[in-house]
Amino acid sequence: MTTFKVVVTGRLPEAVLGELAAAGTLWTPPDGGPLSPEELRAAVPGANAIVSMLHDRIDGAVADAAGPGLRVVANVAVGYDNLDVPALRERGVTATNTPGVLTDATADLAMGLLLSVSRRLGEGERLIRSGRPWRFALDFMLGSQVGGKLLGVVGLGEIGRAVARRARAFGMSVAYTGRRRAAPEVERELDASYLPMPDLLAASDVLTLHCPLTPATRHLIDAAALAAMKPTAYLVNTSRGPVVDEAALVEALKSGVIAGAGLDVFEDEPRVHPGLLDLDNVVLVPHLGSATTETRTAMARLAADNVRAVLSGAPPLTPITG
Ligand code: GLV
Ligand code: GLV
Repeated sequence: MTTFKVVVTGRLPEAVLGELAAAGTLWTPPDGGPLSPEELRAAVPGANAIVSMLHDRIDGAVADAAGPGLRVVANVAVGYDNLDVPALRERGVTATNTPGVLTDATADLAMGLLLSVSRRLGEGERLIRSGRPWRFALDFMLGSQVGGKLLGVVGLGEIGRAVARRARAFGMSVAYTGRRRAAPEVERELDASYLPMPDLLAASDVLTLHCPLTPATRHLIDAAALAAMKPTAYLVNTSRGPVVDEAALVEALKSGVIAGAGLDVFEDEPRVHPGLLDLDNVVLVPHLGSATTETRTAMARLAADNVRAVLSGAPPLTPITG
């Protein structure tokens, strides 16, 4: 029997590692990762499968370092901007991601950020922990109601739709933009209207980003886009940091161009623009969109199942086809 080499670049739940070990010999980072590009390059020679984390850049050079035995790269994330999919395809390597299993967790977090920034939860927490005196007063720390407001969704894919459903339960109405219009039954279910980007920017009370990071969406939210938003509007980003020009966002938040932002992702993770740290009207969390025990286990298991399928000659469960 052939023994496959499976390189796992980060920590996976023990149970899932056990399942993967049935597929081949595992290599895992001695310190749990993350791997530097050099460490990654050093780990992959002879690999038949790579289970990658979202900050590992897996391109043609990494595939070449792995050698001709490499068959599958299973990204433990739905986003796959870290993979050079065409370069992998050229080398006969299947790439997979983890759609579906993280939809609800990520949508929950987007809703959490939306409520946190509009109701000033981070600011309130900081106030209490600071020990500074406070008292209930009718005009104390007023936020903004979400019910009756318009949620603008950029990218009405699975996660965007899940956020829209939640927002509707909070009394919000929904508009969206995207590369193409959603199916009529999706528009009907969410009572969602399609708007071109400029109109969505101008109309939204909360703009939430659910597009993949591609050359077309890099800095989609730049100074001009922010200037087109309402001064009372909030921006929520649980997609990828570089979709937003972070320096422009700092300026917009400082000068009241928009009212606030809730950010789960950053342009140069784990670095966070220092200008954001000084602002009270931004809620910052460290890339937690899919971070529930249930969801992370399901993501790891799906990646492992993709590896096992491809190594056994079966079709992958969730191939990246784009
Ligand atoms: C997380 O950011 C993911 O793409 O799964
Ligand atoms: C607020 O705490 C209220 O009771 O209205």
